[in-house]
Amino acid sequence: MKNITLITLALAFNAMALTPDAEKGKTAIAACMACHNAELSPALAPPFYGVQNKYKRVFNDKDMFVQAISDWAKNPSLEKSLMKRPVKKLGLMPAMPLPDEMLAQIGAYLYEETFEPPCTHWANDLKNSTGSQAQGQGKGMGQGGGMGQGGNHDAMIRMKYNQLCK
Ligand code: HEC
Repeated sequence: MKNITLITLALAFNAMALTPDAEKGKTAIAACMACHNAELSPALAPPFYGVQNKYKRVFNDKDMFVQAISDWAKNPSLEKSLMKRPVKKLGLMPAMPLPDEMLAQIGAYLYEETFEPPCTHWANDLKNSTGSQAQGQGKGMGQGGGMGQGGNHDAMIRMKYNQLCK
C-alpha cells in the first residue's frame, strides 16, 4: 500500500517536472522579469500567469505557443498583440531580440510552468481602478447597466481574486 502511494506521488511529481528546455528557460526568463514580475507596483507588464492563459487559449499546441512567444519578443506589434488592455495601459513592449534558442527555451518554460495566481497584482489593479471608476461615474458599481468595459474587467478580476486568492 505504501508503495502504491509512493509511485503515485512520483508520477504526480513527474507530470509537473519541466523538460530540460523549459528548465533552461526558467533561468533565461530573468531577462523578462524586470518588467513581468507580478509583485511590482505599479505594474510594468502583465504577469506571466495571464499571458500564459491568453496564449494557451489562442495557441493550443506547444510548438505554436513557443513560436508565438519568440515572434512576439523579437518584434512586438499592435497587430500581433493579444493583450489589448495592457498595451493600452502600459504601451507596447520593447523588442527583446535574444538568441532564437534562448527564446525557444523561454517559450517552453512559459508553456509548461504552473504560475501562481498574481494576487498582489490583482489586488493593486482593483484598488487603482475602483478609484478611477468612483471618480468617473457618480453611480458607483451597480451590476449591469452603466458599467463600461472597465467595470466588466474589474468584475472579472474581482471574481478571480475571490476564487483564487482568499
Ligand atoms: C521593458 C519591460 C519589458 C520586458 C523586459 C519584457 N516585457 Fe513583455 N511586456 C511588457 C509590456 C509593457 C507588455 C504589455 C503590452 C504589450 O502587450 O505590448 C508585455 C507583454 C508581453 C506579452 C503579451 C503580448 C501581447 O500583447 O500579446 C508577452 C508574450 C511578453 N510580454 C513576453 C515577454 C518575454 C518573453 C520577455 C523576455 C524575453 C519580455 N516579455 C520582456 C514589457 C516588458
